[in-house]
Amino acid sequence: MLTAHRASILHFLADPEKVLPDESYQYFEDGILLVEDGKVHTLGHSEDLLADLDASVEIHHHQNCLLLPGFVDTHIHYPQTEMIAAYGEQLLEWLEKYTFPTEAQFGDKDYAGDIAERFLDELLRAGTTTALVFGTVHEASVDAFFEACEKRNLRMIAGKVMMDRNAPDYLTDTPESSYIESKALIEKWHKRGRLQYAVTPRFAPTSSDEQLQRAGQLMEEYPDVYLHTHLSENPDEIAWVSKLFPDSVNYLDTYDTAGLLGRRSIFAHCIHLSDEEWSRMAETRSGIAFCPTSNLFLGSGLFPLGRAVKQDINVGLGTDVGGGTSFSLLQTLNEAYKVLRSRGEQLSPFKGFYLATLGGAKTLDLTQYIGNFEHGKEADFVVLDKACTPLMEFRMSKCKSLFEELFVFSMLGDDRAIRQTWSAGVRVHDREQ
Ligand code: GUN
Ligand code: ZN
Repeated sequence: MLTAHRASILHFLADPEKVLPDESYQYFEDGILLVEDGKVHTLGHSEDLLADLDASVEIHHHQNCLLLPGFVDTHIHYPQTEMIAAYGEQLLEWLEKYTFPTEAQFGDKDYAGDIAERFLDELLRAGTTTALVFGTVHEASVDAFFEACEKRNLRMIAGKVMMDRNAPDYLTDTPESSYIESKALIEKWHKRGRLQYAVTPRFAPTSSDEQLQRAGQLMEEYPDVYLHTHLSENPDEIAWVSKLFPDSVNYLDTYDTAGLLGRRSIFAHCIHLSDEEWSRMAETRSGIAFCPTSNLFLGSGLFPLGRAVKQDINVGLGTDVGGGTSFSLLQTLNEAYKVLRSRGEQLSPFKGFYLATLGGAKTLDLTQYIGNFEHGKEADFVVLDKACTPLMEFRMSKCKSLFEELFVFSMLGDDRAIRQTWSAGVRVHDREQ
């Protein structure tokens, strides 16, 4: 069963900073994406493909829209949906005052399921089709999340928080219980359909050395699961880590000695890394989630993207909701641009949209499944509306190039720009419905 989508279509084949920018993407001003059984069949120009299409093929004509691969959010907390936009604190106080009390509710699986549904609604409204997601310390929080994802057939990665100290009693596990529960969740969910598991110690301050070792044991026993945590977000946090781990040479070392670094390890933030930490991240092929709305909101600092590029480290975009202030990767690109301008760095719209799609997929080691429209990949895509608001329509009418249009989408766009979202060839969000 073939379905056709007609629109302006853009996707990336490589990082625009690694090849000539024009060779990093393909753009079809009047393009067709042919989808078969949830997978990409063909991508091409309408004039080449339309004539040969069987009359029985349904054609969705997305007028005045730009069709892109679904966005990839490389760091987000689903239980924090209800506490997005909590006033006035930096990281450690924000965790104590808002985050921990909120997360306490997720031992109740029905409650967790309701929030998971609302969270997925928001993700899809934002055009995000894949995310790397924190649960809470409760096993039930992850069951509830994966059940909600499975019903919608979404490609998602998530895990149970491991946290055995420096948090309220009602939110802590133990090295042993966190190991046993994580293992059970891996056995149940990892690679079930489109779902994958991430071993998820919250961050070094809330895990004992013994618990980090247990996380490492899981990584050894299940070499293809992910590792997902926070690293070097805030100066007070970093100072605390050096007190809690006097034998570690730096923050990253607390994870390194437990065997937690590698190609499928994703560290959120990485704002204040030392030269040694940058080198070790590169050596181990570990990935970074750049979370600009969160970093600005919590006053954490300005991520040096250029440094990561120089070290050839994979970077994706993260919203980090609820530390982040929007589910939208368009809004995230807006703030990423400003963070980098404040550092004297640039973020071209091509690099920005690469990060939101193929770059995110690469950081999550998912390019065999998603990230662009190569034949056989899963048909996850988003339809952006060039006339979603009067100002957007007016500004777009003045654009003379794709470069300008992309930049305008990233500066003015948010959930209103997401006309539709499709996952595995099925429409999972329609702004008009
Ligand atoms: N570090 C440890 N936990 C968290 C969290 O929930 N959000 C953010 N932004 N940083 C953290
Ligand atoms: Zn986070």
